[in-house]
Amino acid sequence: MPDLTVKIGQLTLKNPVMPASGCFGYGEEYAPFFDLARLGAIVVKGTTAEPCAGNPPVRLAETPAGMLNAIGLQNPGVKAAKEKIRALENVGAPVIVNVAGHSVEQYRAVIAVLEEVEAAAAYEINISCPNVKAGGMAFGTDPAVVSALVKELRSLTDKTLIIKLSPNVTDIAGIAKAAEEGGADALSLINTLLGMAIDTHTKRPVLANLTGGLSGPAVKPVALRMVWQVTEAVNIPVIGMGGISSAQDAVEFLLAGATAVAIGAANFVNPTVCPETVQGIHRYLEEEGYSSVQEIVGLAKKEWQKTGDECGCVKK
Ligand SMILES: Cc1cc2nc3c(=O)[nH]c(=O)nc-3n(C[C@H](O)[C@H](O)[C@H](O)COP(=O)(O)O)c2cc1C
Repeated sequence: MPDLTVKIGQLTLKNPVMPASGCFGYGEEYAPFFDLARLGAIVVKGTTAEPCAGNPPVRLAETPAGMLNAIGLQNPGVKAAKEKIRALENVGAPVIVNVAGHSVEQYRAVIAVLEEVEAAAAYEINISCPNVKAGGMAFGTDPAVVSALVKELRSLTDKTLIIKLSPNVTDIAGIAKAAEEGGADALSLINTLLGMAIDTHTKRPVLANLTGGLSGPAVKPVALRMVWQVTEAVNIPVIGMGGISSAQDAVEFLLAGATAVAIGAANFVNPTVCPETVQGIHRYLEEEGYSSVQEIVGLAKKEWQKTGDECGCVKK
């Protein structure tokens, strides 16, 4: 029976599979489909200091092998969210709270409220949010800003601090290193890729917000490449996500170096994709003769290195 447990900061997860933020609400809609205790962790939706109505419709658009969303961080605000988080206390899986803000003060305000909520086991900081003080440029695009933000948040909490990286950058490894230097316990990636769609009948952009975040199977190769690069650059665990919709996809991310995985858009297609992925990883480990999931984390890098040695190529 392979051991599926993994460690992310101070959390020990019974398996490496969790839903991605914004794609699972607070678990209420999924509880009728399966026992939430089968998840490695529950990641709840982005939480802001004040209630947020999100963007006006249209907020979603289907794309080939994916979807665009411009939900705009709709959530009830941290004071109402904390009751929903408390309701998950005895669900049997640790709760990771995704935190969003448009200024350092707003991130601080969310954490200040959640520090007293025991059920909030860890924070996942969404740094794809526009930084009002930097003219709306996302926090996650500048290593100096990332490092300063992480240091500030680190000083506020001893809970596990996960920094969720934006893929809309040229050097994801540089941003990852800045987050590690700032004191992050772990990283998660990728958030959505910036995209847009145009309606040829109305001749207008489909999304009221003009642009939206692309996710789903279409982004998987990009996400996998970024997980590979980031796990090479840092020494903290990485939660990989982006286009995962099966155990085979999840295993690819583990082989690339991710310690755990998160599943987003695929939950909308198949509400039991998370527990099915846990089962599939278990089956893969049994079939391949591994006794623990940790044995396959980063294995593709080791195999790649071997090939490099054999052919005399220099591979880093
Ligand atoms: C409808 C929707 C809402 C999302 N909301 C959030 C959010 O509140 N905070 C966040 O960090 N990421 C959010 N994301 C991004 C996902 O957590 C995930 O990083 C991304 O969708 C890539 O995974 P996937 O391809 O499996 O969907 C959202 C994604 C979708 C599709």
